[in-house]
Amino acid sequence: MKGKTTLIAASALTAVLIATIITTSEKAGGMEFVNANTPVPAVGTEGGPAFPLSAQELDTWIRGRRVFDRDFHLDDGLGLPEFNGDSCRSCHQAPAIGGGGGLDLNVSRFGNDNGGAGPFNNLPGGQLAHRFRRVDVPGREEYDPMTADVFEQRQTPSLLGLGLIELIPEAEILMNEDPMDLNGDGVFGYARMIDVGGGVMELGRFGWKCGVPNLEDFSKDAASNELGITVADAARGFGFTTDADGITDPEFVQGDLDDMVFYLRNLAAPPRMASTSALVALGEMLFTTIGCATCHVPTLQSTMGPISPYSNFLLHNTSPPGFRGMEETNAPAGFYRTAPLWGISRTAPYMHDGLAETLEDAILAHDTEALAARNAFNAFGGADRAALIAFLEDL
Ligand code: HEC
Ligand code: HEC
Repeated sequence: MKGKTTLIAASALTAVLIATIITTSEKAGGMEFVNANTPVPAVGTEGGPAFPLSAQELDTWIRGRRVFDRDFHLDDGLGLPEFNGDSCRSCHQAPAIGGGGGLDLNVSRFGNDNGGAGPFNNLPGGQLAHRFRRVDVPGREEYDPMTADVFEQRQTPSLLGLGLIELIPEAEILMNEDPMDLNGDGVFGYARMIDVGGGVMELGRFGWKCGVPNLEDFSKDAASNELGITVADAARGFGFTTDADGITDPEFVQGDLDDMVFYLRNLAAPPRMASTSALVALGEMLFTTIGCATCHVPTLQSTMGPISPYSNFLLHNTSPPGFRGMEETNAPAGFYRTAPLWGISRTAPYMHDGLAETLEDAILAHDTEALAARNAFNAFGGADRAALIAFLEDL
């Protein structure tokens, strides 16, 4: 038995070594997922365009998809001073390019909250903990990692359909705010307004804590903070325009960034399964009656008609009492954006930290403002439970 284990271990090790060698040699030659000839999935399907595109728009979309997939290298300015990945696709890849990522692709954040007593303080250099650090160039301000005493994992969300979220008028989202809980249902919910400079405040729609107004801002922020790539214009406060790696700035050519943002804006929302089974219909009814739909609002109006992301894009406290986590301006620890539920069955794991493996785990991880809904789910018999899950799997 022992011999067998060793054998398995040895062959596993060989497999790992081979995998490493392949990865390394493929890296040198590029290991992108797509090229100019990769078929474009049909309009409205996973990984395909959201709308029918003209020939010229389709060219831009295809170019943008390649930029999203592009492996940046040291001589492109990758990774100064620290980084988490070498392409957008290295994290956003499942179930299709532009989608989400597994637990191994989480991003970590840290800070100091005085052992939970508060106040929360950012460490010099900010909240993002990076997986990789270049040793060949002077780094950013050093911090003493021992001063970090609070940590938070962030799961890589799917980007499919985000362009439609940009098309929801601000007023449509603000309509669902209830920051004082005037209707007394135990659910609050407020919009997070972001300062984009010059005294202008815009609605934050993206990120687990609604920290970013639009996809161009997020793309710049991710280019600089996840890849270490400088951008041409950071006037709205997202990304940075210079670094010290000696590569000509901006490292992200504006035209490439524009193509990538066009691609993201026109990436189809996950298609609904649209089952007509009685189980799914029952689940849909229960979803509303126990209060899931109060936050996961089924339908919002966009400028292109009604869309169904199953979110209100507001911040709620759904964390357990005493939760310690990251704080940002107008977004205290434990407050998160109602996560959209379209395509949810294909983007496990769940919740901001990715700690919920199944949809049932995700529901049971809701607390505080969502405690009543969770308790109602908990009180369900097996048939109602199965119905609610079947409904979520249909989205
Ligand atoms: C190391 C993994 C990683 C890489 C590389 C990465 N992302 Fe992300 N992405 C994440 C995580 C984690 C989040 C959630 C961040 C948060 O809110 O804390 C995210 C969130 C996003 C969002 C907002 C999603 C939403 O639902 O609101 C967009 C848009 C996005 N990323 C685009 C990009 C682009 C464009 C690139 C390349 C320039 C990129 N990302 C590179 C991990 C990654
Ligand atoms: C008070 C508002 C609120 C209510 C009520 C609520 N949710 Fe949520 N839901 C959230 C927030 C906020 C998150 C993200 C929390 C986090 O990441 O920590 C979330 C996350 C989720 C997720 C995980 C999504 C992902 O991408 O990881 C699922 C699944 C979910 N909710 C389903 C439900 C169901 C089913 C119900 C009813 C039993 C429900 N929720 C009730 C606000 C709510």
